[in-house]
Amino acid sequence: MQIKKIQDADVHGKKVIIRVDFNISINELKDVKSAYKLRAAMETIEHLLRSGATHIALLTHFGRPEEKNDPANSVQNIADDVERILDRKIVFVSDCIGEKVVHALETTENGTILLLENVRFYPEEELDDATFARSLCAPFDIYVNEAFAVSHRKHASVHAITQCMDAYAGLWLQKELENLEKVKNSPDHPAVAIIGGAKIETKIPVINELAKRYDKVLVGGRTAVEAQEKKMILGDNVVLPIDYAYKFYDIGPKTIERFCEEIAQARTIVWNGPMGLIEEEEYKKGTMALIEKIVANTEAYSLIGGGESVQIAEESGLLDKLSFVSTGGGATLVYLGGEEMPGIDVLMK
Ligand code: 3PG
Repeated sequence: MQIKKIQDADVHGKKVIIRVDFNISINELKDVKSAYKLRAAMETIEHLLRSGATHIALLTHFGRPEEKNDPANSVQNIADDVERILDRKIVFVSDCIGEKVVHALETTENGTILLLENVRFYPEEELDDATFARSLCAPFDIYVNEAFAVSHRKHASVHAITQCMDAYAGLWLQKELENLEKVKNSPDHPAVAIIGGAKIETKIPVINELAKRYDKVLVGGRTAVEAQEKKMILGDNVVLPIDYAYKFYDIGPKTIERFCEEIAQARTIVWNGPMGLIEEEEYKKGTMALIEKIVANTEAYSLIGGGESVQIAEESGLLDKLSFVSTGGGATLVYLGGEEMPGIDVLMK
């Protein structure tokens, strides 16, 4: 089975809706901390404009809003940053369906890029509601999925929407799949996976799955602490920390040394999730030591994913030194764990 690619679609004279993932963290000053997810959509936008699409609308979720139209979750918060990073004029539309969208399409000139309001302001989104999906489709001719990071969810804007219009994978989504496929089934050996962060329930299935195909799975962060507290039985090739620093808030020096030995010998390295509580500067040491060792191993193919891992790589200027940086957090784990990806499965022909 092959994915339907946007390069194979005739987009001339068409109105295109792109499901992007602009779910990014912003600080109190509302500056975007990590522009990586925004930049990921650029190539597809340029391709569509070159190929004669008349209008492009960007559809995203932004956080997990508990009430409709909560200003904290409005996509308007990032509109200026989107304009700056995409280096194109953006028109923000304060809804993602209905009259406001139609009006914006009718009153803006060809080549305009619309940024639609948070799709999660409608509970129907997470219910994969077919009627809501039809409302999203109605003003447009073609749908593009450029949101790998949310394609593990069976939500209307990545799943049901593909039932009401021609749907294609964007250029970035295709890159995600090519790179993840490389490390998923036949990695070059020695293959080392590093799994950190919290949410142990999402990490254990992927640790077990990777342990079948990888030589070593190094586990750190809150996941390792909980696995040790619960005395979990994991595979023989799963390596847990032998010491911690700052009361379990980071991995300790012996563990850093042990993990770095494995990283230095590896030919494939996959990494998701930090080794410590990296929100605090003093607990970043383990994570930083590992990322520096990963980029120093120039013979290995290195892939990282997960918002915090990407952020720390970007902050330390090492993003470009990795073979591939996935925009996905949970989605990357789901994919590597061999579970279903509803947003991807519907794009197969
Ligand atoms: C992410 O940040 O990993 C994606 O945007 C998905 O967000 P979600 O976990 O709220 O669905």
